[in-house]
Amino acid sequence: MCGIVGYTGEKNCVPILMNGLTSLAYRGYDSAGVAVWDGSDLVLRKAKGKIENLKDLLEASPVSGKSGIGHTRWATHGEPSDVNAHPHTDSHKTLAIVHNGIIENYQHIKSMLVKNGCVFVSETDTEVVAQLLGYYYRGNAFATLKQALAMLEGSFALAIIFADDPETIYCTCKDSPMVVGHGNGESIVASDIPALLEYTRDVCFVQDRQIAILRKSGIEFYDEFGAEIEKETLHVDWDIESAKKGNYEHFMMKEICEEPDAFRKTYDQYVAKDFTLKSDRFPWDEARAKALDRITIVSCGTAFHAGMLGKKFIEHMAKLRVDVDIASEFRYGDLLIDKGEAFMVISQSGETADTIAALRKAKELGCDTMAVCNVTGSTISREANHVLYTYAGPEIAVAATKSYLTQIIVLYLCALDLAQKRGEMTQAQVTERLKEMSKLPAAMQKVLDNKEQIQFFASRSFAVKHVFFIGRGMDYALAMEAALKLKEISYIHSEAYAAGELKHGTIALIEEGSLVVALATQPELQAKVASNMEEVRVRGAHVLAVTNGPWEGAAGHSHEQWQIDQMDATLAPLCAIIPMQLLAYYLAVQKGCSVDQPRNLAKSVTVE
Ligand code: AGP
Ligand code: GLU
Repeated sequence: MCGIVGYTGEKNCVPILMNGLTSLAYRGYDSAGVAVWDGSDLVLRKAKGKIENLKDLLEASPVSGKSGIGHTRWATHGEPSDVNAHPHTDSHKTLAIVHNGIIENYQHIKSMLVKNGCVFVSETDTEVVAQLLGYYYRGNAFATLKQALAMLEGSFALAIIFADDPETIYCTCKDSPMVVGHGNGESIVASDIPALLEYTRDVCFVQDRQIAILRKSGIEFYDEFGAEIEKETLHVDWDIESAKKGNYEHFMMKEICEEPDAFRKTYDQYVAKDFTLKSDRFPWDEARAKALDRITIVSCGTAFHAGMLGKKFIEHMAKLRVDVDIASEFRYGDLLIDKGEAFMVISQSGETADTIAALRKAKELGCDTMAVCNVTGSTISREANHVLYTYAGPEIAVAATKSYLTQIIVLYLCALDLAQKRGEMTQAQVTERLKEMSKLPAAMQKVLDNKEQIQFFASRSFAVKHVFFIGRGMDYALAMEAALKLKEISYIHSEAYAAGELKHGTIALIEEGSLVVALATQPELQAKVASNMEEVRVRGAHVLAVTNGPWEGAAGHSHEQWQIDQMDATLAPLCAIIPMQLLAYYLAVQKGCSVDQPRNLAKSVTVE
């Protein structure tokens, strides 16, 4: 959550820090600040609220210098306020520090420091680290950091400037992402890649309890024992433009419009030109695929919903049992998985705290772990035994759209691979399916080209108070994601139900004016869904049906029908998600919501 940027080099760091903070703003924050070495002093500027407030403050009280650190805070300890905003310093202004995460044992350390005369000015756990470093500091920044680091528990990414050596930035982290890059005569640190893209594409992720020392001449790395180490540099091929909004009003719309392209990029990585699967890209060989008894999939939020749809794909096509769990539940549950079992996590960011913890537990139990992940070099992609990358490119809007699409594409391809290796589908059947799949970008583009229909619907429906998404089979899994998308960005109450489950209680909520979106893309189940549509229609609901090609029956049971191109039922969810994302988007815009940065949410949840 929140953001860190630090710069040391020849340029004035202030615009660079502000630029970096702006590019990280999508992660969610409630205050912002910078600390700049102006040649004689560490100067702090901090402001509650938007980055614009900090900009105004910097215009009113300018500062410039060649090294500095900046932060966007998402408060965990102490309310959002100017004083609690980062950077923090110790009482003697020996140093300035920014911090992402939570110091779990801060009370314990704070009482020791208070007993020894430290006077605290903020309520944050971060100031405890600043004061602790100041308390131990005797002129050797590296030794002091190592000493303090050994005492810190919890999750943290820290960037620190010591006034005695002000053109050097000390960085370290644990369970919180931190990435550094060396440019031409400058070094830069950030908590996420987009902040670095304008300066360098060659980056290194700092790993738990490692220390990176940034100077304009280069970056040194030390392991947790203090020994100097070499680190592998990763080249990030995301282009700068893909992390910018371009002519779109919101990142979310841009990212929805990029979905046909994200589809092609992901598909091409796993499918050969002759419409066969690149089987070595998948984790199992034939013998292993045949021997599998089940796969456990664990993830959070949208990625959990991708897992739910993945279960349907794998069970239907490969006839292999799949258990899906929410990471925060799984990690504290009974962990009923055995050594050698297949265990998969799904994560766009690769940095979600609960998903990382689940992956580590599965590894401890000796599982065969794999990850579906969008970020090369992220914690999850480093730690899983096998990674199936999604090729969505940077996703900036808090609401996951193209990352979800690419996750379900990868899961679909995994299901086909397993089906073929387990003898449930022939090579010819797989090829036929892959050919049909290759037509999906065109079908998606059609939905995008007709998006005005959805915009018009939203302009008539935005006052709705309750929305129910219903579906059966794969459509139920899709409904879960559609409902999350709508509630997270429009704040409209929405729920997903297995259509057949309505009459077991939920139907009591249906009243005049409720909106029910019936996902009916599975021809075999359409007659059943039709009955459910009828049940809610006669009780006053406004019913919107989303169908796979024309379905004559739909008109009789619904007030409005949206069609995607007719396609194999198993492929339909991959296309039908787009109108659902657009519906959420347009309803949120109609309501005047902050689409890219919804209230209370952060892009990646790096704390528990
Ligand atoms: C989706 O729109 C949300 N922003 C959220 O549910 C997200 O999918 C979840 O936090 C998981 O993130 P991850 O994929 O980066 O692990
Ligand atoms: N726990 C710290 C605070 O509340 C850092 C929060 C953050 O990650 O922004 O200030």
